[in-house]
Amino acid sequence: RERFEASLAELDDAVPQPNRTQNRGASEAPAARTGFDNTADTDPALPQNRAWGLEILRRVPSSLLGDDTIAESIVHDETELDAVIQTAAEAGSAWGRLSGAERAEVLHRAGDELALSRADLMEVMASETGKTLDQSDPEVSEAIDFAHFYAERARELDSVDGATFVPSTLTVVAPPWNFPVAIPAGSTLAALAAGSAVVIKPARQARRSGAVMVEALWRAGVPREALRLVQLADQSLGRTLIAHDSVDRVILTGGYETAELFRSFRPDVPLLAETSGKNAIIVTPSADLDLAVKDVVASAFGHAGQKCSAASLVILVGSVATSRRFRTQLVDAVSSLTVGYPADPSTQMGPIIEKAKGKLLSGLTTLGDGEKWLVEPKKLDDSGALWSPGVRAGVRRGSEYHLTEYFGPILGIMTAATLEEAIEIQNEIDYGLTAGLHSLNSAELGVWLSRIQAGNLYVNRGTTGAIVRRQPFGGWKKSVVGPGSKAGGPNYLLGLGSWQTAVSHA
Ligand code: ALA
Repeated sequence: RERFEASLAELDDAVPQPNRTQNRGASEAPAARTGFDNTADTDPALPQNRAWGLEILRRVPSSLLGDDTIAESIVHDETELDAVIQTAAEAGSAWGRLSGAERAEVLHRAGDELALSRADLMEVMASETGKTLDQSDPEVSEAIDFAHFYAERARELDSVDGATFVPSTLTVVAPPWNFPVAIPAGSTLAALAAGSAVVIKPARQARRSGAVMVEALWRAGVPREALRLVQLADQSLGRTLIAHDSVDRVILTGGYETAELFRSFRPDVPLLAETSGKNAIIVTPSADLDLAVKDVVASAFGHAGQKCSAASLVILVGSVATSRRFRTQLVDAVSSLTVGYPADPSTQMGPIIEKAKGKLLSGLTTLGDGEKWLVEPKKLDDSGALWSPGVRAGVRRGSEYHLTEYFGPILGIMTAATLEEAIEIQNEIDYGLTAGLHSLNSAELGVWLSRIQAGNLYVNRGTTGAIVRRQPFGGWKKSVVGPGSKAGGPNYLLGLGSWQTAVSHA
């Protein structure tokens, strides 16, 4: 254990630590103009920060806002869409002629503007998507991090040895509703940093969050023509947008099937898609079981499990599987979660995004062969969106629950005789996004690290909440479509343009 902790300490020394005592309010300091340091989340131990949070919640409605439209961004038909795309493409050519260093200045200002908008962004996320403050606050930090991190990567594009980076002209950004600020911001800022104009179509359920983010970028000096926010009056316009001749990159975060559909619309255009996940945390007998329970609960039920990175399975190994202790603690922890809408500060787990239906409804209400509820999910109000969390035991290898992504507040328990078997159980899944191991045994850690098939690995911690630069985000297998460069990592911008080399006879 000592050796293990020492190696973790070494890791921590290698990268700068965020400042954990950040105070919020009018005096939030602008970030540095150059270089990169992760932005600190709000520290709820400070009484003034708690008062600041309560003030935000006073402005949040007591149920979800529901689909909302922003009149000025609605595109009604193909002619209007074509005009938006043409203007953006022209603006993209001008934006791409700026040097990376010039774009970096604007991106750093965007980071400052996002920081100034922290409270507004948290309010709109709570109102539209039911995010509690402990979920939305780190999301704003991540959006700010994307701005400053990609600003520095934009500078580097000016001086790649022996090659010239030629920006693409127009990138379509299609983000999800579950991270309605960080993912739209990250994708948009990456494309802008790489010198491309952006047409962003926020998810239907999170349009306002997207709009508040975009307004911050406009205030920072991103030209309005080079960053267009659209809502499509008719779903079929989605195909027109992706398939348009002037679009030369698409960034999607969404389901695997959506990525396949986008690819069929325009096979010749590079698509960078982060897709689905079905993630497990393995707990071995050498784990700190108290910590494992805490991390499993946070990973499975944070934002009501609506994260591609969420833990949907916990695989108990050996004596953890056969003894009652882990299950008992887990059941107690899950049953004691306070479920409600985020306007109520006592809420620990918020609603799902809208009335449960389809696959998620079946996951909340039906069991497979051999399964039983240890904690049975209950519908808590007439909206159909508020559900208490569920834990099912007895999930069998190869069953529907084992292999399917549900995207909601359900956790399944599986068991394995050995760590090797647990790894096989995870690797049988088509997706490979996140994976967790709880173990204090370095030999087990070595086995797991060398065999587990997932892009983001977490040891003795939860599986959600990737951190720009420290843990760039993106998966393997059916969790990714496209080149697989990780968001918030050093190579992400390199796939957002073309490369030129030149040689001549002297
Ligand atoms: N980047 C998000 C997370 O790590 C999806 O949870």
